[in-house]
Amino acid sequence: MPDTAPPQDLLPTLKAILGPRGLLTEAADTDPYCEDWRRLYRGRTPAVARPATAREASDVIRLCAARGVGVVPQGGNTSMVGGAVPAEDGSQIVLSLARMRAVRDLDPADMTMTIEAGATLKAAQDAAAEAGCLLPLSISSEGTATVGGVLSTNAGGNNTVRHGNARDLVLGLEVVLPDGQVWNGLRRLRKDNTGYCLRQLFVGAEGTLGVITAAVLKLAPRPREIEIAFCALPSPEAALALFARLRQHDPAAVQAFEYMSGAGMELVLKHIPGTVLPLSAPAGHYALIELATPRPDAGLRAGLEAVLEAALADGTVLDAAIAESDAQRAAIWRLREEHAEAQKREGASVKNDVSVPVSRVPELLRRASEACEALMPGIRVVAFGHMGDGNIHFNLEQPEAMDPAAFLARDHEIMDRVNEVVRELDGSFSAEHGVGRLKPYMMPGWRGGAELDTMQRIKRALDPKGVMNPGKVLP
Ligand code: MLT
Ligand code: ZN
Repeated sequence: MPDTAPPQDLLPTLKAILGPRGLLTEAADTDPYCEDWRRLYRGRTPAVARPATAREASDVIRLCAARGVGVVPQGGNTSMVGGAVPAEDGSQIVLSLARMRAVRDLDPADMTMTIEAGATLKAAQDAAAEAGCLLPLSISSEGTATVGGVLSTNAGGNNTVRHGNARDLVLGLEVVLPDGQVWNGLRRLRKDNTGYCLRQLFVGAEGTLGVITAAVLKLAPRPREIEIAFCALPSPEAALALFARLRQHDPAAVQAFEYMSGAGMELVLKHIPGTVLPLSAPAGHYALIELATPRPDAGLRAGLEAVLEAALADGTVLDAAIAESDAQRAAIWRLREEHAEAQKREGASVKNDVSVPVSRVPELLRRASEACEALMPGIRVVAFGHMGDGNIHFNLEQPEAMDPAAFLARDHEIMDRVNEVVRELDGSFSAEHGVGRLKPYMMPGWRGGAELDTMQRIKRALDPKGVMNPGKVLP
């Protein structure tokens, strides 16, 4: 890994390549490029390269590779694990994809879109919607997170339960490799068995094997009917039972099934202006249900009402509200999507983005809560997330009177305690946020032996100088 400041001649050379078009910024330490949105990671960088084409990105990387200078690709910088922040020693340059935002092609007949990596996920969704299609990837930070970032982290989010992760939506990629070669793999074929599946190597690699500059994404038919309900529940077991009943009723219709705890909801209502609980009384547990179908005659509403009526009758659900308008739908989603922001406003938090088999989510919630409360009396469990995928953000908020820095100083201890439970439940320590700079230390314990060894050999083969996103993913 490069561990010295970039050589003196790097900036003038980069300026000569990118300067005339204003594609290089000499960075100040206060730039947003140097810090993640939660303000947990602060780095330094001498320059931010902002290429407008894959060729320009290639020029930058080739130059950095020749001089052994680390390159940190950055999209919306919304990583939860410090995946896009440069190191503190100022030895790495940031490569921002902000200028590469074009929709190169959108084909409603093939149901594909070819889009550049710096486009926000929201812009990609909007372009798909304008063409009468759906890009079925949705995450809380979609207004800022970029296509390159969600692919590099294999983002999951709210619709994974029906449409899969980012990985499941990629047909082709354009990637600048660590030696500067541009791989144009922007194929939009549904079938293509021609050797190793390279695109999947770069998806989820967090920029450590190259920079994704454009992608071909699969689109889905636009839903014609959407129903959203918000439910109060007596327990996580009841949430799981409700999920099973919805799936039994119409397995194809469940587009999101999100769990929220009473503690998280209290923080949202306290910190996010304009949020209101759409139910008569607060509860200990909540679920957000989204059903969707491209069929015009599916009768979603009647089906949802039938499932909820039965669940209310036998006490599986305590109370429920079904959205009657787009405004109500957005208001309900906001209660879920503002959890991360509400936690940030409340104080310091430690995030555990874990997954277990769906059937074991209630056990995870109970056992990990007990473990954390025993470790640190007063710690507040704010668990929420994509219950339909078994992916819970088992987040911990600092005890009210505790100093935030003292709390964060114990982050490994807290994460490790949660992960002990996760391991016993056959889960994973990172479900959708990736490994970044926060979790490489966990890799040997979870992915050691042949798995980590293979990853390290791939890294060395593609990036022998360790230029791409140094210090991330691998220990
Ligand atoms: C979300 O689903 O809102 C984010 O992935 C989670 C988080 O704040 O941990
Ligand atoms: Zn999430």
